Amino acid sequence: MIILGIETSCDETAAAVVKDGRHVISNIIASQVDIHAPFGGVVPEIAARRHIECIRYIVDEALTSAGVTLPDIDAYAVANGPGLAGALLVGLNYAKGLAFVNQKPLIGVNHIEGHVCANFLETELEPPFLSLVVSGGHTSLITVEDYETYRVVGSTRDDAAGEAFDKVARVLGLPYPGGPEIDKISRGTEPTIPFPRAKIAGFDFSFSGLKTAVMQYIKKEESPDIPTIAASFQKAVVDVLTDKAIAACQSEGFVKIALAGGVACNNALRDSLQSACIQKNIELYMPKPIFCTDNAAMIAARGFYSIKNGKSDGLNLNAFPGRMV
Ligand code: KG4
Ligand code: ZN
Repeated sequence: MIILGIETSCDETAAAVVKDGRHVISNIIASQVDIHAPFGGVVPEIAARRHIECIRYIVDEALTSAGVTLPDIDAYAVANGPGLAGALLVGLNYAKGLAFVNQKPLIGVNHIEGHVCANFLETELEPPFLSLVVSGGHTSLITVEDYETYRVVGSTRDDAAGEAFDKVARVLGLPYPGGPEIDKISRGTEPTIPFPRAKIAGFDFSFSGLKTAVMQYIKKEESPDIPTIAASFQKAVVDVLTDKAIAACQSEGFVKIALAGGVACNNALRDSLQSACIQKNIELYMPKPIFCTDNAAMIAARGFYSIKNGKSDGLNLNAFPGRMV
């Protein structure tokens, strides 16, 4: 089954052609990062307008580089939440148009479940497993009982991990988006500052206290050592994410962890989870970085399992900006 996935929930216009939910035939992503960088974050109205300008060309390129045409597409999968309302509507309406004209099924996909399903791309991972989803908007521990059953067992009470990275980067004077910058300048730097690790019972997270601690530390210092602060902040985030993911996996009785979301690109997090999982005999899955940040192949992967189970949505499908799994 060949699915065309479409993703426009935030600032990436993306389309992908995926076979049987696993094999990526094409994966096209147009990033708007340069447009939003001067504002220090994504401007929703600008994002939506840019999606409108790009979507047609991105879908065409996904088809062309996959060597397929519209009659070859068996179904359309589109991210319809969570995300920015105006941005989501662009992809959703484009997908509806394609499904209607070509008389093929349409399926709305939860963007966070999509991130989880990036772990199915080019792998043989099968449920059950625990997923740690760390993105700009979400930080969640999710149990995946089967291809269609997702349950949040822990989430952030304030800032998402990626949001904390981006906000701290801004305070450190690093360019937007800050996550990759912190990752870069932390390499080879000792994380010597003991920033706090929030101790929250259960599997929830909190990163706003850590962010405040970094701000206060900088205010006190006459000439702050930026790489050391970045590395120490990163270590505090990574330690908490690693500990909770391992604890949740063990408490649910799973033997596999699948990492997902933009922050899953972070080298310190990948290294830390890798060594913790080896120690605890847990199998770890980590998508290639291009499948960690927003993309449409992950949306097609998630949509595949719904379509395979005979589900589809009508042309009255709406966008749900605040929808969780
Ligand atoms: O999943 P994603 O592409 O979009 C959302 O759904 O939010 O995640 C974007 C987030 C941004 O906050 C970005 O700073 C962060 O992922 N990120 C990173 C790295 N690469 C991207 N954070 C830390 N280290 C990285 N290497
Ligand atoms: Zn995302």
